[in-house]
Amino acid sequence: MDGITFGRASLLCTLLLWAFQVCSGTVTVQVAPKVEVLKGESAKLPCTYTVSTSSSNTVVEWYIEPEQGTARKRVAFRSQGGEGKSDEGTTLTGRVTIGEDFTLTISSVQPSDELNFYCQVTAGPAGVGDAATMLKVFFAPEKPELTRPSSQAISAGETISSEIGTCVTKNGHPQPRIIWFKDDQPLPEVKDRKEKTYMIPSVVKEASGLYTIKSTLYMQPTKADKDSVFQCTVEYSMPGDQIKQKKSDTITINLNYPSEKATFSLLNTDPVKEGDNVTMKCETDGNPQPEFDFTKDGAVIKGQGGLLMLKSVKRTDNGVYTCMATDFDNLDADLSGTITLTVHYIDPVNVSPAQPQVVMLGDKVEWQCKTKASAAHTVHWKKGSEVLSQDGTLSLQDATYDKAGEYMCVGAVPSVPGLTAQASVNLTVKGKPMIETPAVGEVGKEGDMVTLKCSAYGSPAPQFTWKPSGKESVSVEGNKVVSTVTLQATAEVMKDGVTCEVSNEHGTDSKAFLVSLKRAIDNSADRGFFNLSFCVRGVCVVVVALLCYETEKLSFS
Ligand SMILES: *[C@@H]1O[C@H](CO)[C@@H](O)[C@H](O)[C@H]1NC(C)=O
Ligand SMILES: *[C@@H]1O[C@H](CO)[C@@H](O)[C@H](O)[C@H]1NC(C)=O
Ligand SMILES: *[C@@H]1O[C@H](CO)[C@@H](O)[C@H](O)[C@H]1NC(C)=O
Repeated sequence: MDGITFGRASLLCTLLLWAFQVCSGTVTVQVAPKVEVLKGESAKLPCTYTVSTSSSNTVVEWYIEPEQGTARKRVAFRSQGGEGKSDEGTTLTGRVTIGEDFTLTISSVQPSDELNFYCQVTAGPAGVGDAATMLKVFFAPEKPELTRPSSQAISAGETISSEIGTCVTKNGHPQPRIIWFKDDQPLPEVKDRKEKTYMIPSVVKEASGLYTIKSTLYMQPTKADKDSVFQCTVEYSMPGDQIKQKKSDTITINLNYPSEKATFSLLNTDPVKEGDNVTMKCETDGNPQPEFDFTKDGAVIKGQGGLLMLKSVKRTDNGVYTCMATDFDNLDADLSGTITLTVHYIDPVNVSPAQPQVVMLGDKVEWQCKTKASAAHTVHWKKGSEVLSQDGTLSLQDATYDKAGEYMCVGAVPSVPGLTAQASVNLTVKGKPMIETPAVGEVGKEGDMVTLKCSAYGSPAPQFTWKPSGKESVSVEGNKVVSTVTLQATAEVMKDGVTCEVSNEHGTDSKAFLVSLKRAIDNSADRGFFNLSFCVRGVCVVVVALLCYETEKLSFS
């Protein structure tokens, strides 16, 4: 609360109430019947008077009534035209001043200042008159602290009330009030300990004069209260007849209640397959959870609390699993549940013939692939990622070199993600070597070195013979063997070319590689380039020109 704003509100209130009058003889004294102030702030208590007969010797005195019915004690006074003085030896000494207009100002107001203040006017022959102002002191209490009892859980259905929680709110003035809430509904305030639900309140007045209040809630909770949320609120007054509230944090109760039924469930989300870990969970609707016993097809099997875990299951783990709970608070209840576990499987894939197959070029080859599974399954023959057959039979009519390699049969159960089995076989195609269409070699001029590549299929791997021979090397590229030769482009080579001859036990093949001069003019007219390079007596000149008119392409033949 903003102190300044509040000060103004208080003053307004004071003025509105400015109507109270007490007449005594012919002296009429006017005060505010009530002045409200926050603890620690300053309070102003105005006092004015009228007299019937004017007096030269009028005295205005402010008194307090320390306790109801006790003798009044003066705190400050001022005679007309004289100095204002405050009295020694009162609870207000040092904190009160009386103004020229007889207003009593009290600084650092304390809760103990909440008293009746009397403004008494003595006006010689006119007599004496007084009027009272009630000073009200306010202070907002702290946010309430709600704590659960440290004792153990409460049992539902007990016939004596148990402590639910204690709510404490500190340092309020005037004395605030605690209201209990259960699930946001206020609980009626009951102090009678014979009721099922009641509150035991207590109040402590601190040395500061502020109040610390406490309330302990007792109830006989039922199972329906297991999730109930409890909260307490402090309700307190502030100046201007305002009622304010502060809420505590919430608590729930640690409630014990018997189990009435059990649920046994499989936590695996996908169909269970061989190799999976299986978790089954048994729980009851009671608190705390009771002990659980598990059986499989009648035989005892060990669980961990409410969990039954099976590592890397096999098809032999199929069966009926039972969970049995025993709650000594409800021995009549049937606390059992069952799960029928089905472990899906697929047998290893059987490929026949199983041995690597070696066939001659052009021969026929066929494989069968079979498996068994716990549910409808598929078998696919694949080479790399290409699917070749979906019915278990793979038949190759005319074996060529590029059909050689590894073939895989994959069995799968589509209804069970991840349940697959596979096997592979190798095919070797034997036969006479075959040279791929040779490339033409090019040299700048006769006598230069030229490099030629001859690649050939064939199994067993063919032997290479170059005519004429040169510097040779052999490498394997996939199912081809490649021989590279580097030799001098002699006049004879330029004329007759170079012959690559390959052979293995099944036969031979040979191809001639022609070697020609590089074309003097590279006709790049499509790209608009004109590139001319020629060499005269070892000096090579390259002329590159960009053609501007593509439509008139130059053609050199
Ligand atoms: C089964 O559990 C073991 C150990 O807890 C773990 O190493 C293994 O990866 C799990 N298997 C599967 C299929 O999740
Ligand atoms: C097939 O040949 C490859 C490559 O030589 C080899 O890694 C693989 O083990 C062979 N597979 C079978 C089933 O023999
Ligand atoms: C022109 O030919 C020479 C020699 O063959 C070559 O190095 C150059 O890259 C070619 N330039 C263009 C633009 O084609």
